[in-house]
Amino acid sequence: MSEKLWAGRFTQPTDAFVEEFTASINFDRRMYHYDILGSVTHARMLARQGIISGDEAETIVQGLQGILAEIEAGDFEFTVAREDIHMNIEARLIEKIGAVGGKLHTARSRNDQVALDVRLYLRDEIDAIAQALGTLQAALLDQAEKNLDVIMPGYTHLQTAQPVLFAHHLLAYFEMLARDTGRLHDLRSRLNHLPLGAGALAGTTFAIDREWVAEQLGFAGVTRNSLDTVSDRDFALEFCSFASILMMHLSRLSEELILWSSADFAFIELSDAFCTGSSIMPQKKNPDVPELVRGKTGRTYGNLISILTLMKSLPLAYNKDMQEDKEPLFDTIDTVRGSLKVFAGMIAEMRVNLEQMRIAAGRGFSTATDIADYLVRKGLPFRNAHEVVGKTVRFCVENEKSIPELTLEEFRQFSADIDGDIFSYVTLEASVNARKATGGTAREAVEKEIILARQALKESSP
Ligand code: ARG
Repeated sequence: MSEKLWAGRFTQPTDAFVEEFTASINFDRRMYHYDILGSVTHARMLARQGIISGDEAETIVQGLQGILAEIEAGDFEFTVAREDIHMNIEARLIEKIGAVGGKLHTARSRNDQVALDVRLYLRDEIDAIAQALGTLQAALLDQAEKNLDVIMPGYTHLQTAQPVLFAHHLLAYFEMLARDTGRLHDLRSRLNHLPLGAGALAGTTFAIDREWVAEQLGFAGVTRNSLDTVSDRDFALEFCSFASILMMHLSRLSEELILWSSADFAFIELSDAFCTGSSIMPQKKNPDVPELVRGKTGRTYGNLISILTLMKSLPLAYNKDMQEDKEPLFDTIDTVRGSLKVFAGMIAEMRVNLEQMRIAAGRGFSTATDIADYLVRKGLPFRNAHEVVGKTVRFCVENEKSIPELTLEEFRQFSADIDGDIFSYVTLEASVNARKATGGTAREAVEKEIILARQALKESSP
């Protein structure tokens, strides 16, 4: 038999460069395990249905297991002449067990085979990523719990706004990651249907049992339309969308870690294990890890756009263009896994400088809103209270004072409604702890959220 599994209708060999150009083996080989798993199950189904004999199936399964062992031992020779992972394995099978190996591809096409391989591979990666997300969320919760008394400035427009608990700020990222995990579960459930049985595009003339194969491979069901099945890459797109949003979240945390670890902020110190030095400036300790994660967000978006653009306007059903889905998808998986892994360690080891955070939280008249709220409770309309406090802040700016440094007389220049108790409202603790409503930054509210978050995390991890 010729080297090429499809050589029958050809009279000339493939141009050597075209062979290189069209091959996907250099990147799709990472799916070998799933290709073999799918083939083993397919062969067993063919025997159960009487399409091949039990002995033939057994020989095929043994052969495939031998190939798996060869690949894992590094003894398998992948070749571009055999184009992709599917034909590298099938050709090797025929080499090993003879003509009976040629029966494996009965009632199957590479078009439904590749859809199966990618779904199986991605499903396992999704499960590993869900776990990694949980690990990072747990690291955020640990830091939140450990630093429950640390107050930092909250910002809008990167200008000091109101004091918040550092734990509250960390829990904001917990929430983002919880939504990411939700998206991951959603897309997994849509992906989890067996494509095998669609054949090249129209289905198969053999009496196959798709439901049995689906059950064996842990799918929730089978796909419903053969044309759609071999044309569909929504699962790759949904995964890349999930990844883009996740990386956007990580890029925001990256940016904050970079700012916070600068000498000017000095809110945190990243562990040496997650930083590098400069080749010229001996004092430097650079936050390379968050910088790289921030940077890698770009390639993740690019990968999403690549696959969207690749799929745009493709006529049904399979087109070779679709082979181009793999590198962006695999790169996205690697990027997400790497970023989550490095982040979990970095967050766990981050040290917090509570004094610096506290000093910064006291700057910028961060408790001004609390004076306004105080006046509102005394019966002033909020707009008037806002005006009073605006004037108070201007007085502070002109006299180089902070709000708690004002005397009662100075306070009362702007409103006679202000009494001696004002001083108990303008401390950082009072400001933070006054925000008790669910979702607010008060210590008791945040403590409650940490408990709920721990519970949610326990329930979502298997
Ligand atoms: N290597 C191909 C891919 O990744 C497998 C499917 C090939 N099918 C075909 N009809 N050429 O898309």
